[in-house]
Parts: sequence; structure tokens; C-alpha cells
Amino acid sequence: MKFWEKIFLCTLVIFEIFFVPSSIYLINSNFKLNLNTEINSGISEQKRFCSFVESNLFLFKIQKESNSYKTELDKQSIDSMISTYLNNFGKQDIYIEVIDNNNKIIFTNLSMNISDKRDELNVQLNKVKYIIRDINEKSYLFITKKINLDNNYYKISYVKDVSSVYKNKKYLLNLLLKLNIFVCIILAAVTIALSKFIVNPINKLIRTTQKIAAGNFSERVKVISDDEVGLLSKNFNDMADVIEDKIGELKMASNDKQRFIDNLAHELRTPLTSIIGYADFLRTTKYDEETFINSLSYIYSEGKRLEKLAFKLMDLIVLRKEDFKKKSENTSELLIEIKNSLQPKLEEKNIHLEISNEDLNLLMDKELIMVMITNFIDNAIKASKIGDKIYLKVYKDSSSNIILEVKDSGIGIPEEDIAKVIEPFFMVDKSRARANNGVGLGLSLCAEIAKIHNARIDIESKVGEGTTIKVIFWRKNIP
Ligand SMILES: Nc1ncnc2c1ncn2[C@@H]1O[C@H](COP(=O)(O)OP(=O)(O)OP(=O)(O)O)[C@@H](O)[C@H]1O
Ligand SMILES: [Mg+2]
Repeated sequence: MKFWEKIFLCTLVIFEIFFVPSSIYLINSNFKLNLNTEINSGISEQKRFCSFVESNLFLFKIQKESNSYKTELDKQSIDSMISTYLNNFGKQDIYIEVIDNNNKIIFTNLSMNISDKRDELNVQLNKVKYIIRDINEKSYLFITKKINLDNNYYKISYVKDVSSVYKNKKYLLNLLLKLNIFVCIILAAVTIALSKFIVNPINKLIRTTQKIAAGNFSERVKVISDDEVGLLSKNFNDMADVIEDKIGELKMASNDKQRFIDNLAHELRTPLTSIIGYADFLRTTKYDEETFINSLSYIYSEGKRLEKLAFKLMDLIVLRKEDFKKKSENTSELLIEIKNSLQPKLEEKNIHLEISNEDLNLLMDKELIMVMITNFIDNAIKASKIGDKIYLKVYKDSSSNIILEVKDSGIGIPEEDIAKVIEPFFMVDKSRARANNGVGLGLSLCAEIAKIHNARIDIESKVGEGTTIKVIFWRKNIP
């Protein structure tokens, strides 16, 4: 069932429940009131008529006595009295019937046949009894009173046509029916218009959901009103925003994974091609000792590169899966340990590592932080000239975050590559990086380690001037 049909049915049911019974009640009350008025006026007219007959009898008696006749109320006398009465009042829809004690009709101007029992005739003296009868599709009110006229009992029936009261009721019921039909039509028209007005934004919402379901995730609903439907549309748009973002993230993650696999395949192929090439050369060619040693050196160094690649890949996989437990560690001890472990590498290029430290405590996995700093310094050494200086600092910034900083004055990174150096296998100068035994995974590992510590890596670099890498640890990680 459609929404407008539901609204229409509900409104119709409510309308019918309240309007029809209350209208019928009103019509019935009006009918009863009219009928009572007719009955009351009939009873008083009947009374008036009886008094008229009684007073006329008195005159009649005086007249008869003066003529020394026997006093008796005969048909002719009553006839003349009633005709005078009816003429006086000039009523056409009023009938009179006079019946004596033996139920013999003395006078009647009733023209219709009364087929049913005349219960109203069983009336006591000076009492009034009335009944309503349907005769020839008309309704008549019969009011009967028993009176004593000169020691004779008479029942005087006053009959009145009250069809108009019934007709009035019928007319009102008919009017109610017509009004009901008319109101139902108006109600249907109004509810269709109203429901369309209400349902329109819902339909728009449905169309948008269908478009989104078909894959058009940037589709949104126009929020026009601030009612419940408007709120629903707004919430729906918010939900669509979140879904679109999530889908974007998933797409990016999937693209990253694909790029990772492509790069990995490439990075594996390069050393493998060299190894296979030199091995094949040694297998198929006659060579002197120098060529033999050179070829083996290539095979060895490429094999080493493959080994390093395998280890770093393992590290990266472990970092992404394991749940590391962090402890509060002192940074001074950490920096001294790092300097000692890197000393041989630094001496190779006669590089001086200058440490400045605010002696802070930080929540960390010490092994991982050491791997991270080692990678930064390793990169700085590779980028520096013989005899250069590298600075390693740990300090608090103005927002009380702890900053770990590695600064060199080496070759620097081109601006357009700064954001990319963290991507797995990205190397600014591949041949130079390979010559330095690099596989392009060091900074990716650092990024994972920073993520584990809820820290952010910030790189500033200028070609020819040097590079500064900062790891920003949020205040909440400071014990
Ligand atoms: N301090 C730096 N100065 C200049 N270039 C840098 C610096 N640090 C990183 N880079 C550039 O970023 C690239 C990626 O660095 P990353 O540490 O991820 O890989 P890598 O050093 O080449 O190899 P790996 O660290 O896996 O042995 C480097 O190849 C280099 O081109
Ligand atoms: Mg590196």
C-alpha cells in the first residue's frame, strides 16, 4: 500500500468514526425534539378542543332546556361544533374523531383506513394517550382523551399529520450521505496532494540511495526542510560522506598494496637478473681470475641486497601485525646506545654525530625507536659528504610535544619527492641508493614505527642544503 493511500485511509477512518456517528446523533436529537414539539402542541390543541367541546355543550344545554327538549349530545350537534372549530383554526392536516363509550363513531373526518389495533382508545377518564401510525406512507399522531360530557363518556381523538418531521429526518440523513461522499472526495484529493508533498523528499532520498547502491558514491540529497525528513536527509548525507571516505581509504589502501606488490616484483627482479646473468656467464664462458672475482662480487652483493630486502620486508610485516607494549624510557640512554652502535659507520665517512638532549621520558618500544633513529641516521650518512656533521636532538616544543629530530647538510630531497620518500621502494636516485645498498624500505619502516607510537613524521628538505626529519610524539605519550 502506498504512503498516500495509508494517509487517506487513516484520515478517512478517523473522519468516519467521529463525523458520521456524531451527525447521526445530532439528526436523531433534532428529530426527537421536533417530534416532541409536535406531540406537545398536539396534546395542547387536543386539550383546547376538549375545552371547546365542553364549553359548547354548556351553551347547547341552555339552549335545549329553554326549548324543553331532552338533553342529549347527538351526532349533528357535535358535527356542527367540530366544523366550527376546524373552520376557526383553518387546519387541513388535522382530523378529529369522536367515539362514544360503546366505541361507536359519532364523528370523524378521517378519510384513511386504520388497519391496526386502536390501543390509544383504551384510555382512562380525563387522561391522554397518544400513538404514531404510518398510514399510506404518511405518519399520523393520534392523541386520544376520554371526557365526561353530561354523564356520558366520549373519547375524542385528535389526529395530526407529522410526516414532515419524519421527512425532515430522512432529508437530513440523505444530506449526511451526500455530504459524506463529498467530504471523502475532498479528503482523497487533499491527502493525495498532502502525501505527495510529504513523500517527495522521501522519494528523492530513495532515488539517491538507489544511485549510491549503483556505485555513484558522490551522490547526495538536497536538504530543504529542517523537519524529521530534513534531518533524515542530513544524517543520510553524513553517512554517505563517511562511506565515501571509507571507500576512498579502501581504494587507496588497495592501490598502495598493488603498488607495493609491483615495486616488490621489480626490486626482486633486478638483483635476481644480475645474479642469474653472472652465474650464467661463469657457467658458459672462459674467464680469467679477475673476471671470476668480479662476477662473484656482483653475485655476492646482489645476494646481500636480496637478503636485506627479505629482512626489511619481514620487519615491515611484523610491524603491521604485532601489538607492541610500550614502556617509559629515558631518551639520554637511548641516544648514547644509538651513537655507540653507529660509530663504525660514522667513522667510515668521518662524520660527526652531535647529540643534544633534554633528558626526557617517553612511552616507547625501545627496540623499534632505535631501528627508526638508526634508519634516519643511515639515510643522513648516505646523503652526507665525508667530514659532514649530523645532528640528533630530542626536545619539547611549545605545545609540550616531544620532538625527535635528525638533521643533516647532505644532498637534500627535491620538493616534489618529499611526500613520496615514505612510500615503500621509493628512492630519489635509484642507482645511487642501490650503490649504497638501499632497498627503499627504511622510511616505510620508520612510518610504521611512528604509527605504533601515535607519532607523526615531518620532513623538511632542500636540494643541496640538507634534510631535517622530525618525529612528533603527542603530549599524551609522555609519562
Ligand atoms: N636524509 C636524506 N637526504 C637525502 N635523501 C634522503 C634522505 N633520507 C631519505 N632520502 C631519500 O629517500 C629515499 C628513501 O629512503 P629509505 O630510507 O626509505 O630507503 P633507502 O635508504 O634508499 O633504502 P633502505 O633504507 O631500505 O636501505 C632514499 O633512497 C633517498 O633517496
Ligand atoms: Mg634508508
